[in-house]
Amino acid sequence: MDLKDDIIANIGILENYCWLPKRAEQQLGLSTKSFKEDEFGMELRYNLIKNKLLMLGVKDVVDLGGNCGYFSFQMLDENIVRKAWVYDNDIDVLNFGNKVANYLGLQDHISFIEKSLSLNNINELPEVDLVLCLNLIHHAGVSFDVDIVEKMGWSKYATDFLKILRKKYRIAIIGVGFKKFRPIKWSVPRRLKPIYFSKIANQAGWKVVYDANIEDLSFIGERLANGRKTKKTPYIFILETIYRFVGYRAANIISKIFEKLFSTKHGKNKLVNYHIYILQ
Ligand SMILES: C[S@@+](CC[C@H](N)C(=O)[O-])C[C@H]1O[C@@H](n2cnc3c(N)ncnc32)[C@H](O)[C@@H]1O
Repeated sequence: MDLKDDIIANIGILENYCWLPKRAEQQLGLSTKSFKEDEFGMELRYNLIKNKLLMLGVKDVVDLGGNCGYFSFQMLDENIVRKAWVYDNDIDVLNFGNKVANYLGLQDHISFIEKSLSLNNINELPEVDLVLCLNLIHHAGVSFDVDIVEKMGWSKYATDFLKILRKKYRIAIIGVGFKKFRPIKWSVPRRLKPIYFSKIANQAGWKVVYDANIEDLSFIGERLANGRKTKKTPYIFILETIYRFVGYRAANIISKIFEKLFSTKHGKNKLVNYHIYILQ
């Protein structure tokens, strides 16, 4: 099978995070969307990253849990970075990424590295100016670093993780899923999770320069989505007070009732569970 047929045969089989970069789609005459649903907002997240990075003059990127390299490929093709290192522990998506790299002639600019990332080894990663860590860290305690998260709790874990990244990188783009049971070992009411993650980033020495819920991004755009879920409104103040003095469960119940009554949700889609932070 030649490279082209191989890519076409595998794109539909691999998971929904495995997305073809635009140039590959054009050259192959296909769209990834005709094979799978864009349930994680691949293009939406990429466009935001591109717009935010254009001004910041980055050179190289390390992509943690980067799957088959969609974000890195796009950044290389749009001259946002010169070199990318994509780390993942799934050999199938890495092999696919390597095939796409060869097909696009980018094999000298992108490296796919099989590695089981952990709090214990992220300080060994290449020291460049930008790190992407999209939709990985909320899986800590479940699919990796189970013992460490069990011992220290997710809040301390995430703080230590971001502290290590802070020492190595000038800019970090972090995607986090705030779900009912994720991150585990982190008893924060769901509505407060985006705010508490900002606090974690600050404690680790980062400044949050942009943050948005991904569903907000898709419905109201980059400017209006910025900080919408991390703003200190009177409602958030009341919720935080209940959380502090009455407890996690009470705050969760009240926020559920409040959001049912005054919901501004745009519909039921997975994107509402995900948040993106740009840290400097
Ligand atoms: C939820 S997907 C996110 C993919 C991509 N970053 C994105 O946001 O579109 C998580 C990725 O991290 C990888 N992964 C999970 N645990 C990992 C670990 N401990 N070390 C390296 N990769 C890991 C998975 O194989 C998967 O490709």
